[in-house]
Amino acid sequence: MVVPSIELNNSIMIPQLGFGTWMIKDEQECIDSVKSALEAGYRHFDTAQIYGNESFVGEALKSSHIERSELFITTKIWNENQFWDDLIPSLEDSLKNLQTEYVDLLLLHFPVTELRRPAWRRMEDLYRQGKAKSIGVSNYTVKHLEELLSECKVKPVVNQVELHVFLQQPELVEFCNKNQIILEAYSPLAHGYKMSDTVIDKIAQKYGKSYTQIMIRWCLEQGFVVLPKSVHANRIKENIAVFDFELDEDDKNNLKNLNEGLRTCWDPTNVA
Ligand SMILES: NC(=O)c1ccc[n+]([C@@H]2O[C@H](COP(=O)([O-])OP(=O)(O)OC[C@H]3O[C@@H](n4cnc5c(N)ncnc54)[C@H](OP(=O)(O)O)[C@@H]3O)[C@@H](O)[C@H]2O)c1
Repeated sequence: MVVPSIELNNSIMIPQLGFGTWMIKDEQECIDSVKSALEAGYRHFDTAQIYGNESFVGEALKSSHIERSELFITTKIWNENQFWDDLIPSLEDSLKNLQTEYVDLLLLHFPVTELRRPAWRRMEDLYRQGKAKSIGVSNYTVKHLEELLSECKVKPVVNQVELHVFLQQPELVEFCNKNQIILEAYSPLAHGYKMSDTVIDKIAQKYGKSYTQIMIRWCLEQGFVVLPKSVHANRIKENIAVFDFELDEDDKNNLKNLNEGLRTCWDPTNVA
């Protein structure tokens, strides 16, 4: 399965579907999952300093002997590493763990109130040095993005936030679209919290697809980069087999009505 790529605002291409690795903490399980993902055709991998698995992801990617240029690797600067003196050394550690000279995308994991503004200047330094080919943010609300856009020299290419049919965040999506910031949908399967819904079941039946494939396809058709996670080879394969059908207008409308503001992860709404 070949995953199409979309263009970021710095002209770099990003595969629109990537493999999520949060909560895959066991070394062998992580290595096996990443290998299954590579076999299924994933080339985009999403990890983070706080996931504790950068070195396992790095090991699995290295041992695959796939050209580095064929891979797209994202990591995220953890909150405690956003201090001025800590951010750059923390990326050096991540690069060692990932066995690479650069990451394709580096994100600030969360809009830490007192730290995020100077931290972005450090991110810009890493971008200029080529250690991060693209830089972006995660869990930013419109308010945090407005602040960043008013003072940055390098614009974020993405905002990685929780997005799925049950949490559609239309205002944030509109703001990002208007400002050429690609949305990355984390927890696109609502973290597995809601694996049954009659509307989705009906649509899945109509296309001969699975429940999760409909959830992922909805994200793709919104123009989001999508990051499903699984530790099971069959599900990993299933989640990438979403490029051979399109939802029709009726289905899209019915899915739009499923938005219920369901958050399964962080809610940054009230972060100053
Ligand atoms: N930036 C951030 O703050 C942030 C926050 C959350 C997530 N993320 C990123 O987004 C990625 C995805 O989010 P997520 O891990 O929260 O959850 P998710 O992808 O929404 O859902 C994962 C859950 O769905 C199950 N699942 C996966 N495929 C399935 C299938 N085909 N059929 C049935 N069940 C299936 C998984 O179980 P099994 O593993 O047992 O198959 C797991 O329980 C993360 O791994 C991480 O990379 C980022």
